[in-house]
Amino acid sequence: MPEVRERVDRRGAVGKGVLSAREVSPARVKETAAPFEAFPRDASGLRCEGVSLDVIARAIGTPCYVYSSAAIRDQYRRLREAMGKLDMRLHYSAKANSSIAILALLRELGAGLDIVSGGELFRALKAGYSGRDIVFSGVGKTEREMEEALRADVLLFNVESEQELQVLDAVAKRLGLVAPVAVRVNPEVLVDTPHPYTRTGEKGMKFGIPFDEALSVAKVAANLKNVHLLGLDMHVGSQISQFAPYEVGVQRLLHLRREIERDTKARLEYLDIGGGLAVTYDAESTVDIGHFGEVIGALVGGSGLRIILEPGRFLVGNAGVLLTRVLYRKRSGGKEFIIADAGMTDLLRPSHYNAFHRIEAVNPTGRTTVADVVGPICESGDFLALDRQIDDAQPGDLLAVQSTGAYGFVMSSNYNARPRPAEVLVDGTRFAVITRRETYDDLVRNDNNSPAWRNS
Ligand code: LLP
Repeated sequence: MPEVRERVDRRGAVGKGVLSAREVSPARVKETAAPFEAFPRDASGLRCEGVSLDVIARAIGTPCYVYSSAAIRDQYRRLREAMGKLDMRLHYSAKANSSIAILALLRELGAGLDIVSGGELFRALKAGYSGRDIVFSGVGKTEREMEEALRADVLLFNVESEQELQVLDAVAKRLGLVAPVAVRVNPEVLVDTPHPYTRTGEKGMKFGIPFDEALSVAKVAANLKNVHLLGLDMHVGSQISQFAPYEVGVQRLLHLRREIERDTKARLEYLDIGGGLAVTYDAESTVDIGHFGEVIGALVGGSGLRIILEPGRFLVGNAGVLLTRVLYRKRSGGKEFIIADAGMTDLLRPSHYNAFHRIEAVNPTGRTTVADVVGPICESGDFLALDRQIDDAQPGDLLAVQSTGAYGFVMSSNYNARPRPAEVLVDGTRFAVITRRETYDDLVRNDNNSPAWRNS
């Protein structure tokens, strides 16, 4: 991928004084086995596995998220197989979809977890994970969160600054424990993602320790009494379909490992290469995960390190739809609008990242139109799709917003005092509510309209 290398080198982000980017591999595109088709269509309309989406909407109401358990199992199995004999564990990144039932489904498949907050730890433990299944990432861990994770005996803290390291050492000392640590390094590679907000491994970002400081922070870690330096970690970004950033990043981390082991007594056991593998939202080619396995295998094979991969979106992204009912149609300024009962409070991605999600009618009218699909929220930026060629759906019709299994429900909010939607899991011909729709009472549960005033 010479183009990527050139861009990388021009910015001086990679290869300066440490090592040069080796020949990097393009992400090959065709795959042999196609992913499981979770949302097939037949004469009765769109289904999730063996259940009609129309039936789910009538039973549960809209908006609601609907997930296919078979699709999640299939993605997990494909990724696992693609990693071949690599000594690797998949630590599902809980932030993508942290419903307890989804976490539990992945636990049954053998996944570990990547978490970023005390709340995610709480959910993980409720889903039956043990601390040893969990790596704790995040740029701003609080002392309370550190304490909870230490008590839970997590596998690794991915530490993102020297100050965090010192605080973790102090918290561990107070508890009479030793914190297992990986240093999260910013590999400072160039990353191509659909939106700048989903890049993390470029120079000057808040994530990770700047590459040229990583060795000195690792030395500090190696000398602290209540932390045990066990690994290195990186996460280059999200929705990545090129392997060059992983390849260059891993090379840099392996180089750093040699320096650490040369300069300290630490012997590293883990190399966490983060998440980020892309899924298909529109007409993009699928990422060739078999090739990804080969690329990583060629770099780390024989290193003696246990590899941790933190996929989120890849495992659940295409396994979910947001089901919404059309409320109204209207025309304004020569434009068509389809006003749905779901909006940015249910699915933030279109308005926040200008993200594209395919929208399909559950029972198509057979006619198409070009319209903005918008929600009921009082913001002009509240949309699910703009200028979209779409079924000419009428009030009462159901739409399925595709590829919303990751970063959908988890980013929903109560803005405009809207209860958050339900989540439904399908398994073959049966379905169950895994998160009930919020009620108006849920909305006011934490309010206090007779506040207890105080001065200190
Ligand atoms: N590991 C770490 C340390 C991360 O920060 C993330 C995602 C992942 C793993 C999982 O990345 P994935 O495999 O899902 O790409 N809300 C955005 C995505 C933000 C991702 C944040 N970090 C979106 O809707 O596209």
